[in-house]
Amino acid sequence: MNDAKEIFKKYQAQTFKNPSSLEVKSANGSYITDIKGKRYLDFVAGISACTLGHSNPIITKAITEQLKHYSHVMVYGEYVQSPQYRLAKLLAENLPNNLYTTYFTNSGAEAIEGAMKLAKRATGRVEIISCKDSYHGSTQGALSIMGNEEQKTNYRPLLPSCNLIIFNNEDSLDNITVKTAAVIIEPIQGGSGFITPKNDFLQKVRERCNTTGTLLIFDEIQTCYGRLGTLFGFEKYNVTPDILCIAKGMGGGMPIGAFITSWDLMNLFTFSPELGHITTFGGHPVNCAASLATLEHLLTNDLMQEIDKKEALFRKHLTHPKVKEIRGCGLMLAVEFDDQTLTNKVVEQALEKGLIIFYFLFCKTAVRITPPLTITEDEIIKGCEIIKGILET
Ligand SMILES: Cc1ncc(COP(=O)(O)O)c(C=O)c1O
Repeated sequence: MNDAKEIFKKYQAQTFKNPSSLEVKSANGSYITDIKGKRYLDFVAGISACTLGHSNPIITKAITEQLKHYSHVMVYGEYVQSPQYRLAKLLAENLPNNLYTTYFTNSGAEAIEGAMKLAKRATGRVEIISCKDSYHGSTQGALSIMGNEEQKTNYRPLLPSCNLIIFNNEDSLDNITVKTAAVIIEPIQGGSGFITPKNDFLQKVRERCNTTGTLLIFDEIQTCYGRLGTLFGFEKYNVTPDILCIAKGMGGGMPIGAFITSWDLMNLFTFSPELGHITTFGGHPVNCAASLATLEHLLTNDLMQEIDKKEALFRKHLTHPKVKEIRGCGLMLAVEFDDQTLTNKVVEQALEKGLIIFYFLFCKTAVRITPPLTITEDEIIKGCEIIKGILET
């Protein structure tokens, strides 16, 4: 057997019955090239991960420079490693005072797991509240708070005392009580199709948490590192969480996550018992170097200031009678159609025509657009024209 697709199907775990199986040769800027040399304009960026585009020389340089010095040397938290502490310091300098101490992880789900543990430890409570239709990762703790029973049911029993509120539903906030350790919420609900907060919902969640002594955890795994036009999503909505979880785009294409909180809270992991949370590869120096380069670039260039304009361009060029709604914010946009058939058609035909767009976990009638933040205006227009061309057929 030497056909790559067959080998992929036979030897690699499959998550999905019909993956597109695009056979990647290389990727550069906003484009992925397959082994036949066909170029695809990438409106997905590895699901909001490749913040500065593919193979950005800034990231490549940071990675290769770091590799010249050292790669993995020790488990997280034991040795002083410059990519880690410089990144942690730069994050703290760009966050409010209560978000000062960073714990690096390998992924988004692990950041959520750490934050959940910390909230239980800090409050002495067990209940974690999340939102219906939320997605926070696939590990058991993150799965326990996923807001979709169909995805959870085969894996029960999961963590006890995980309850739900409904995103944008103020009445459901009564479910948050003095028994609740933490509320975990995405500033923009991702898996359900980029639902933005309405009527100061996030402020109201913050107020309710203040009243009940509940910690507020923001899952900014998808909204961090400039995707909404601000470094973090909470800045956009003027609500500061007690614990911030980030990942995806923070690595500029490399795998890294983090949960960030105050020194006092984070310090709870260091005693009774000590080693309360440990990881071998969390904060890998090469990935921290990539993340640091991404963050430095965002802080010293106009990329974030250009996001509003790019969003407006998408909205303008995707206006079409068959587009019911364009939801989301910044470069995190959902294009809603009438039905699933049209949604599937758009995704499949776009790929044939050299444009990558993608599905949502829980919303079957919309497509996801989360391009690299470096996408150009010409590329935006070109991709939108492909989508509209498909809608015309
Ligand atoms: C909002 C949100 N939280 C958590 C996760 C889990 O992150 P990871 O896949 O890195 O574990 C994701 C991934 O899609 C996400 O979008």
